[in-house]
Amino acid sequence: MQSLALLETVNRAAELFHWVADPEPAPFDNPPQGRLKVGVDLGTAYLTVAVLDEQDQPVTGEYQFAQVARDGLVVDFVGAIDLVRSMKDRIERRIGRELTHAASGYPPGVPGVEVQATSHVVEAAGMICTGLIDEPTAANALVKLENGVIVDVGGGTTGIAVVENGQVVYTADEATGGTHFSLVIAGAHNIPFEEAETLKIDPSRQPVLFPVIKPVLEKVASIVARHIEGYQVPEIALVGGSSAFYRAAEVIEEYTGIPTWVPPHPALVTPIGMAMNNNPEDYA
Ligand SMILES: Nc1ncnc2c1ncn2[C@@H]1O[C@H](COP(=O)(O)OP(=O)(O)OP(=O)(O)O)[C@@H](O)[C@H]1O
Ligand SMILES: [Mg+2]
Repeated sequence: MQSLALLETVNRAAELFHWVADPEPAPFDNPPQGRLKVGVDLGTAYLTVAVLDEQDQPVTGEYQFAQVARDGLVVDFVGAIDLVRSMKDRIERRIGRELTHAASGYPPGVPGVEVQATSHVVEAAGMICTGLIDEPTAANALVKLENGVIVDVGGGTTGIAVVENGQVVYTADEATGGTHFSLVIAGAHNIPFEEAETLKIDPSRQPVLFPVIKPVLEKVASIVARHIEGYQVPEIALVGGSSAFYRAAEVIEEYTGIPTWVPPHPALVTPIGMAMNNNPEDYA
């Protein structure tokens, strides 16, 4: 079940986080006090920087569409560093404080060298990387399932974490996500990818697009079903931007037979979870 704390946090983050292409918001009247916890999510589709206070409450954040990572792996280093640095600069101007440390993440199953690449981007952008956590586990820092499965349907991949008694006992990641939704729409309507992407994220267009996206959602469901075989799963929490698609939870629930829900603003959950992992005790 969604907790009130989760709902409050994502709703607050949606108000405070800023889409980079929008006009820059006014600076804060006073800098936030105390230690700041920062999460940098180098997603396949969205680059997100989340800033929380010591109580894990959202302070501010930025996100933008960027193609610097593919299936969770950084493919454009220079681009990724530039974008993270400019997001960091804008946030610092806004809050009147420097961001010195950050945590980041990686899709489960990614080789160690690639995981390290993520921390190099964070460090080259001017922050000490205090830790890296796999994405669905990061999401559960905020979702706080005791027993169930976190499914992070992002842009490039679907990440899965099985949680038993509050502990992540199994993780997996497979290459199906929102980029595939957009490709299917582009193919079906014979339009460029960018146009399909814009069409897809418009909630008023989603009911009409549903018939072409349903098989992709069923593919996601089949991936989930395969990975959770043998586990007792009372509920599925869907996070990641693509979970916001019309009737996504319904399709997963119907296919798996397991109660499934999506919090509001699901794209913000994993980046916030990464920031929650930016622990003061890691600041040596
Ligand atoms: N309202 C919406 N409805 C459907 N899809 C959406 C919506 N908003 C965003 N998306 C899609 O969500 C994806 C981005 O989500 P998210 O930020 O979780 O992915 P990511 O972290 O960049 O990717 P990954 O985790 O696979 O590396 C994009 O494919 C985007 O088109
Ligand atoms: Mg992601």
